[in-house]
Amino acid sequence: MTSETSPSDDRVNGAGSSAEAAVPLHVAFVMDGNGRWATRQGLPRLAGHRAGIAHVERVVGMLKHRGVRYMTLYMFSTENWKRSKEEVDGIFELLADWLTHTGPRLRDSGVSLRHLGRRQPLPAALLAALDRACADCGADDGFVLAMAVNYGGRAEIVDAVKAVLPRAEQGLQVDEAAISNALYTAGMPDPDLLVRPGGEVRLSNFMLWQAAYAELYFSPVLWPDFGEDEIDRALHAYAQRQRRFGGL
Ligand code: IPE
Ligand code: IPE
Ligand code: MG
Repeated sequence: MTSETSPSDDRVNGAGSSAEAAVPLHVAFVMDGNGRWATRQGLPRLAGHRAGIAHVERVVGMLKHRGVRYMTLYMFSTENWKRSKEEVDGIFELLADWLTHTGPRLRDSGVSLRHLGRRQPLPAALLAALDRACADCGADDGFVLAMAVNYGGRAEIVDAVKAVLPRAEQGLQVDEAAISNALYTAGMPDPDLLVRPGGEVRLSNFMLWQAAYAELYFSPVLWPDFGEDEIDRALHAYAQRQRRFGGL
């Protein structure tokens, strides 16, 4: 969490009343399992990416309806460049198309879009689509969808340290708030709940700093099938957790 976070919401501090704390303010998802979803149906992997990206709007609607305010979605990692050029290019094309077609509708429904990740070397067409979709979106009282594209938790920390160093030489105190405010997520609360569909039980370089006290939830269900029942199961599991933040 950073000092820029809206103080108006008690849940931002992870210490709101028990009724409020039962609904996470920020849910982060690893969008995993798209490739296997397609392969299981005898389809090319890109069909899975298409289905996975199309599923995002439904999940946004479900979270909004349940009182969540921030959703971060891990869509492409700094390590995903290791995949074939065909798959990488295909994912970027699908993403740009989706942003162009769905971005305005999301914004009309009160969703602010935001990009988390390194811009280079993303293709110009995707960057333009991201910029259009994210333009004039402020993290305010609506719903924020942060899209982690060319995102890596370690790269993010390296970038934050690079941003902080010159300011440290001018006397800025290097503390946790200074690092938090230099991360791609500056101004957003830390995720309360981190959900990974797709069966893998690891972070894969996602939100390494921000997930320090996130509740973790793993599910074997693949992202394109991660529907209402799965969302409710994850939120229910979260509501059962006892968050102590190191206290008693
Ligand atoms: C989609 O899931 C998310 C991206 C990494 C682009 P995957 O493509 O990793 O799907 P699986 O894990 O191979 O099923
Ligand atoms: C994590 O999924 C990255 C995204 C979903 C964007 P991966 O499929 O790349 O993770 P690994 O390789 O199984 O750890
Ligand atoms: Mg995967």
